[in-house]
This record gives sequence, structure tokens and C-alpha cells, in this order.
Amino acid sequence: MCGIVGYVGRENCTDVLIDALSKLEYRGYDSAGIAVFENGKIRVEKAKGRLQNLDEKMNLEGRPFGNCGIGHTRWATHGEPSHINSHPHSGRRVTLVHNGIIENYMELKAFLEGKGYHFESQTDTETVAKLIDYYYQDDPLEALNKALPQVRGAYALAILFEGFPDRLYAVRKESPLIVGLGCGGENFVASDIPAILKYTNRYYLLEQDEVALVTAGQVVVTDLAGNPIEKQEQVADWDIDAAEKGGFAHFMLKEIHEQPKAFRNTISPRIRDGAIQFENGLDDVLRAAKRLHVVACGTAMHAGIVGKYLIESLARVPVDVDLASEFRYRNPILEKEDLAVIISQSGETADTLAALRLAKSQGIRTLAIVNVVGSSIAREADYVLYTWAGPEIAVASTKAYTVQLAVMYLLAFQLGRLRGQLDEAAYANYLTELMQTPEKIEKLLSQSGAIANLAVDYREAQNMFFIGRGLDYALSQEGSLKLKEISYIYSEAYAAGELKHGTISLIVEGIPVVALATQRDLLEKMISNVREVRARGAKVLLFCFEGTQVSADLANHVIYLPQGSDLFAPLLSIVPLQLFAYHIAEQRGCDVDKPRNLAKSVTVE
Ligand code: F6R
Repeated sequence: MCGIVGYVGRENCTDVLIDALSKLEYRGYDSAGIAVFENGKIRVEKAKGRLQNLDEKMNLEGRPFGNCGIGHTRWATHGEPSHINSHPHSGRRVTLVHNGIIENYMELKAFLEGKGYHFESQTDTETVAKLIDYYYQDDPLEALNKALPQVRGAYALAILFEGFPDRLYAVRKESPLIVGLGCGGENFVASDIPAILKYTNRYYLLEQDEVALVTAGQVVVTDLAGNPIEKQEQVADWDIDAAEKGGFAHFMLKEIHEQPKAFRNTISPRIRDGAIQFENGLDDVLRAAKRLHVVACGTAMHAGIVGKYLIESLARVPVDVDLASEFRYRNPILEKEDLAVIISQSGETADTLAALRLAKSQGIRTLAIVNVVGSSIAREADYVLYTWAGPEIAVASTKAYTVQLAVMYLLAFQLGRLRGQLDEAAYANYLTELMQTPEKIEKLLSQSGAIANLAVDYREAQNMFFIGRGLDYALSQEGSLKLKEISYIYSEAYAAGELKHGTISLIVEGIPVVALATQRDLLEKMISNVREVRARGAKVLLFCFEGTQVSADLANHVIYLPQGSDLFAPLLSIVPLQLFAYHIAEQRGCDVDKPRNLAKSVTVE
């Protein structure tokens, strides 16, 4: 998604803006631009494609020089990726960058055309720039106060006003924006913490319709009418190394390897004296909940599916799992005693946030499982369980998924115990095995080289299937998504027992099938399903626990998981599945960390 940065201070802001934007590249974008006050005039530079194109273009044409400016990476929504559609956009004396979507931009455009404005781009953003410009006499805040109430939709804006070369303005509604507090003589604006982490870890989170006037020496936050607002300083505990590759070829590989640490960080603080201790009185809510509605998107939703299998089987509490984009429009039945469980790495996904608001508006309690501290979903939910994965930079989610699973296990065990479904011994055994998981993940990570070798046999595939039963089916959906999003091999996850109800017609000689067979109760049935695809020529990569008897003709390759109980298999299988997807994509020459068309944080519908 789009990224915003802003800088005012003593440095040449062109260099700071480009550096800060480079930290947002992971979010996905297709053009970039900056605007800098140079000798009192706003100079705009833009380029289609990578940030490097912009940097090289400016090197050829002469880099803007100034101490105050804004920058943007654009992920196209309204209008194709092009020079003209790139941000910043301008009116006569106002230039801005924007994240979000302006819903009534056609209406605003017609109004402004009637006032003599001409539009260059196809973007919604240009209408906001011109609308603010229309109201701008000599008072920036007055212009914002007149213009923004007319704007419907979501926006985070960083704005330069001609006549004020030593300040920038920041304002937001729905889309996130922070103001970074520099160590004397400089301040920042950014849509995301990693952008400014090199310079400062102190920041203000802007709330709805708060306006920040940012100069080198101070930050003043007001509402649109100019009433001062006292802000609480936030401190990000992500260190700068977390946003660097640290010797790994890709962020994705680094983040796969960070999973043992992320897992420990997420569960350890919550297991004390042999019991799960959730923060904020969550136990009472869990005890009372009649039904859980897990709502999320993509990978986070896949964590919810595993959660459903765990919670229903261990706690006997019914769980619905919904895609947020469906939940919010399907008029779901929500009862007073239900609990909505909202899962999101970024805490900013537009559909997920809307689903949370819908649940709240219907009076049911909400629990957010979120990785980014202070994000919108974390702030708006009634209860929050943070996952402690640290920043996830690669677009494809890996460690964030594993820690979402970790929280699902904690919830299932706690619900099981509170509802009297799990006795003390079973509860204690489960917690012990959960705490042993990071070591097993470490063991699996050491197989990365072997999985890279195996990937050679699968990397030419055009299609692939992932099959499993029970928890294996739940997990296979994530294995399949990981492969398709980064390698561009079409893949589909199927419940193994469902294959012969149609899809088996697609199984032909040589097609790879990744078969997860870790559920011992279902092993015989699963083996029959594997035989069905083998009989039709499929090339099978089988996952099972060490010690499982596998006849030589059942699979072409086998990945063995360290011994454990069936219930914990998803926490183990996911690691080789991620590595399998990673190595295939890498060997196919794909841009692993930034797959085409994808964005890290999906802040538009
Ligand atoms: C895929 C992936 C996405 C996200 C989805 C939700 O690897 O990362 O499917 O899981 O866009 O994002 P969050 O968790 O930030 O709400």
C-alpha cells in the first residue's frame, strides 16, 4: 500500500525522504515522488516504478535541496501507475501526498472544475489537493477546516503550503499517520514506524481529524478548529536491526528464521506458574462467550481456521470464521454473549477494521489479536492480545502467522480449561508441549538447505495442490497461499476427502500434490487419498511425523516433522511449507519480498 514520509530539520530533506521511503518499499508500490521546499518554492519530483528510478532521475536532473519536504510511494488505485498519477499532487499553492481513498472525488472534481481548476491525473488525491488549495488564503488550518469536512473516505495527508517553507502539516481520517519526534532540531511524519526508526523511536499517533503542524523545533497538534490537543508520546521498541535483512538474502527468509524467537516472545509472558495468564481480565470474557466469530483477511484468516479446529475440539465452543470483506456486508447474526475475535498483523487492514467496528456497533465484545502496537484495530478493540513478532517486512506473512497460531493455541487451552473441557493434567501437558515448540521449529529450520534441493524438482510446476484432513486441511490453506503469492504457481488447497467430488479430474501425470498427513486418527484415510492421486500420476511431497510408516511407493519425497502430538502439527508443518514456497520462488527468480501487485498493509477495501 502507499507510504507517506515527511521531514523538516537541518538535513537536506531529499536524502532523508528517499531513505525513509526505502524503508516503506516493503509495503508494495508502483511509483514514487517527493516535494521539497527549495528557495521558498515547492519543487516536485516523481517517477514511475522503483524508488531507485526516482533517485537516479534526480541525480541526472539535480537533486532538490531544502530542509522541509514530503514523500510518497504509490500503490495504484485510481488510475494506472504512471508519472502523472504519482504523488505528490498539487493545487496552485498546496502540494500533498495521500494514503487512502476519497469516495466522493468525482463530485469534488466537478465542483472544482466549476471553479476553474484543471485536472492532470486520474487520481482521487488531486481533488483533495485542489480542494484545500481552493480554500487556502493565508491560513493553512482554516483551509483544512473548510475543505476536509467536504471529503468523504479515508485519508492520511502530509501537506506543504506555499508561504510556509519551514513547516509541514499532517492530518488523518481512517488511514494511519504518525509524527516522529526527532532528537532536537528535526521532526518527521510517516505512515509507518519503520520509515523513521533510523532517526527516532518516539512518536505521536494522530487520531481522527487531528492536525499536526510540524516544524524543526516543535510539533503542535490541534483539532480542525485549532483547539490544542495534548498528545501522549509513544515509544516503539522495535530496533533498527529488525528492519534490516541481517545477512539473509530476503526479509522473508530472515522472518522465517525469526519464528522461534517470535513464538517464545508471544507465549512466554503469558504462561506463569503453569497456567495461562491473559492480560486485562480476558478470562471473564472467555468464560461468558457463547460463540466466537473470528474475522480476518488472508493469512490472518487462515490462522483463524486453525483456531476454529482447536477451539471447537478442545473447548466445545462454536466458532465461525469469516473473511472480513464478506462479514462486513453479509449482515451476520451476532448475539449479545458472542465474542468477535479480530486477527490482523498490521492492525490497519481496512476490511478487518470495518468488521471490528460492525461487531462493536452491534454491541458484542471484541478481542483483537494484532502485531503492530497502537494500530487502529488494537486501539479500537475492547481487548487486545498482541503477538510479539516484531516488524514483518516481507509482504508474505510468515512469522506473524505462526504467532497468530500461538495465540489461537493459548485461547483454545484457556477456553477448554475455563469451560471444564480440559482437566488439569491435559492442560499442563498441552502447555509443556507448546513451550517445546520453538526448539522443534529450530530443528525444522536447519532443513532449509535440504528443502532448497527438493524445490528444484517442483519449481517448474504450473499448478500444485495441497491436501490434508482436519488440522492438516486447515493448515494447507496457508501453505497454498504462500506458494501462489510469491512464486506465481497456481495452487489450491483441498480437503483430501473432497477431492473426488470434482477436483480430482485435474490430477494428471506429473502434477505436484503436497500431502499433509500428520493427523494419526485420519492417517489411513489420508493415505488412501494420497494413493488416489498417485494412481493418476501425481508427484507427491508428503509431510508426516518421524516414525510414521511410509511405503516407498507412496510419495516422491517425504518431510518428517519432529515427534509430537497431532494437535501441534500445524506449528511444525508450517515451517517447511514456508521454506518450500520461499525456495521455489527464489529459484524461479521472483521478487520474493515484494510479489507483484501485492501490498503489505491493505488499507483500502
Ligand atoms: C499473505 C498476507 C495477507 C495478509 C492479509 C491481512 O501472506 O500477508 O494475506 O495476511 O492482507 O493482513 P493483516 O494481517 O495485516 O490484517
